[in-house]
Amino acid sequence: MHSEGDTVREYLDAAIEIAREAGAILREGFHRPKQVSYKGEVDLVTESDKRSEELIVRRLRERFPDHGIVAEEGGGAEAVAKYCWHVDPLDGTTNFAHGYPCFAVSIGLAEEGRPIAGAVFNPAYNELFVAARSEGAFLNGQRIRASQVENLATSLVATGFPTHQRKKSANINYYWQFTLRSHGVRRDGAAALDLCSVACGRFDAFWEFGLNSWDTTAGIVIVEEAGGQITDLEGKPYRLGGPSILATNGRVHTETLQLAASVAADAAKN
Ligand code: IPD
Ligand code: CA
Ligand code: CA
Repeated sequence: MHSEGDTVREYLDAAIEIAREAGAILREGFHRPKQVSYKGEVDLVTESDKRSEELIVRRLRERFPDHGIVAEEGGGAEAVAKYCWHVDPLDGTTNFAHGYPCFAVSIGLAEEGRPIAGAVFNPAYNELFVAARSEGAFLNGQRIRASQVENLATSLVATGFPTHQRKKSANINYYWQFTLRSHGVRRDGAAALDLCSVACGRFDAFWEFGLNSWDTTAGIVIVEEAGGQITDLEGKPYRLGGPSILATNGRVHTETLQLAASVAADAAKN
């Protein structure tokens, strides 16, 4: 009998195959001179973003003509469909353009707005993170789990800063306070990989403001299936494209929320 789990597994297998194929495009582009253009003041886009997205959208359309697709460079078309793919053809474009090998393809699937499967592939390190709802999270075929760290003071944390409207971002205040109260805050430049790093225990927590559904859909399933926790920075359920996200190993979630609340309260006073 064909169960719901089989269907999700079939979708994940497609995402994995397509992420690997798109990853090969990025790997090839990474070693060549890059043609960079700008979408905003510092928001870069390369030929590789576009070529990767074209491939992913074409493949998804061929295989799942009834599904919606939201893709960063605009190649998809959101449909009123039960299943919707959220695609970042190149997460970490700035890293990519500067030759820093921290970038990935992120392909996530949501069912009525709830992330259910995802594949995130970093072709420079050949690391493939995958998860499907209720089936666990894996890195290159090995089961992964979020860390066991109990306190913020002994956590390695990560965040990111938006490329658009960056002068309006209050995140530097959070960065400062989290830096003082943890083992440090990394800013690695690829949100999908930051989420995967929480899932495999490299980071104990990650927060960011203003991410889009293509940055987070795949990573959310991977974090949750690895035993981690996702909310927004106020502790409310995270909704795709919402104003903030917090991903932790679960154990430091409350403490992280408390610190975030105190930073927000201080900012409101000033
Ligand atoms: C960006 C990266 C970065 C995050 C930015 C994103 P892009 O995505 O994920 O880490 O801080 O907010 O926009 O533009 O490289 O796909
Ligand atoms: Ca991107
Ligand atoms: Ca992105």
